[in-house]
Amino acid sequence: MTPSEVDLHQQVQKSVVLCVCGGIAAYKSVELARRFMDAGYRVIPVMTDDAKRFVGEVTFSALCSEPVRSSLWSQSDPVPHTSLARRADLIVVAPATANIISKYANGASDDLVSAVLSAATSKVLLAPAMHTEMWENRSVQRNVSWLIDGGVDFVQPGVGRLAGGDYGAGRMAEPAEIFDVASRLLGAPTSGDESTLGGIRVLITAGGTREPIDPVRYVGNRSSGRQGYAFAQYAAEQGASVTLVTSSELPVPPGVAVDKVETASEMFEAVKKHFEGSDIVVMAAAVADFAPARVADDKIKKADGVPEIRLVPTADILEYLGSNRRPEQVVVGFAAETSRLEENVAIKRSKKQVDIMVGNDVTKKGAGFGVETNSVYILDGEVSGSYLDGVSKLEVARVVLTKADAIRRARQ
Ligand code: CTP
Repeated sequence: MTPSEVDLHQQVQKSVVLCVCGGIAAYKSVELARRFMDAGYRVIPVMTDDAKRFVGEVTFSALCSEPVRSSLWSQSDPVPHTSLARRADLIVVAPATANIISKYANGASDDLVSAVLSAATSKVLLAPAMHTEMWENRSVQRNVSWLIDGGVDFVQPGVGRLAGGDYGAGRMAEPAEIFDVASRLLGAPTSGDESTLGGIRVLITAGGTREPIDPVRYVGNRSSGRQGYAFAQYAAEQGASVTLVTSSELPVPPGVAVDKVETASEMFEAVKKHFEGSDIVVMAAAVADFAPARVADDKIKKADGVPEIRLVPTADILEYLGSNRRPEQVVVGFAAETSRLEENVAIKRSKKQVDIMVGNDVTKKGAGFGVETNSVYILDGEVSGSYLDGVSKLEVARVVLTKADAIRRARQ
């Protein structure tokens, strides 16, 4: 930030409540506090008792020129958790331990940090730090997923050295990255780092929907969901808050919120629910175009003869998104084709009013359904598109999300 930007910022000084929990990464939060102070924010430090085992209270109080708050039972402020929560323009929890994530997700409030989080009305940003086994633990991931789904932002942990000499995923993000994401959430200029999606909310659909005929049978398609999951993995690794609406059973990448659906109409409802808060939407799912007009209550028996199943059209989710989005939202669609790829992609892009249409020829070897690689044609302008041939689905995700984020930035 330039000195004049700092001045401007100080005129409307915003408050960051910085909650520090008990983990070795607490020492990095000292640097984070300093960055907030340098940028002209008022920083109110809150520490758990365990945090004080790692870093001294005086370090934060001296740096922030504010006393460290730790107790729910304060002489000067009879209701410290609500007054702190009300004063905050942003609450940052760094490091966020498995314990505080669990308390927050479950509405527990037995110390000041968890009580502040329970009373929060501002945006909340969590920077998790823990051992790999804990970060990948199902309960932790369920809690993370629940919080992302509720609008909480995360700066995903990276891979690196952990406490006790261990090495793996779960290392808290660097202060510079946390600061950048926090700045974005506070509406301030960032360092301009183009490489991350921190603070961006990405909604992704994946898998083929299943339209029931009776309790046993369904009308389906051959989509595995791999391309959509690659988008989710890449976006989460880049620091985005990712919600994945999926009908697939593939393992969910860490740090991704999941909304499990089966049918096209369930997917439509789920997408509508998450759409409003999303910055980028990627419709990678193979949504059924037709569904049985009626679902038999009981299994249809052979003895009843060959059934005639009447199909009715489903709602076109992507078309709905294209015509109901806010101008700054970026919408990406997929086109599964078996012929005239470029022509069909161009028609679908304009018909569905999306920013980027990614077409793939599903008859091509090493592309499309059920394989790890893909060959796609990406159309992000009115006229010419570009090809990616025989690349990993993660690479497709990288290229497409980089283009989508460039469009998003250009609209700001
Ligand atoms: N799509 C959707 N809702 C539907 C059908 C498709 O949102 N009911 C989305 C898909 O997720 C994809 C895009 O629309 O992003 C294109 O899907 P595709 O099946 O290729 O095209 P359709 O519009 O269904 O047209 P057709 O099947 O005739 O090629």
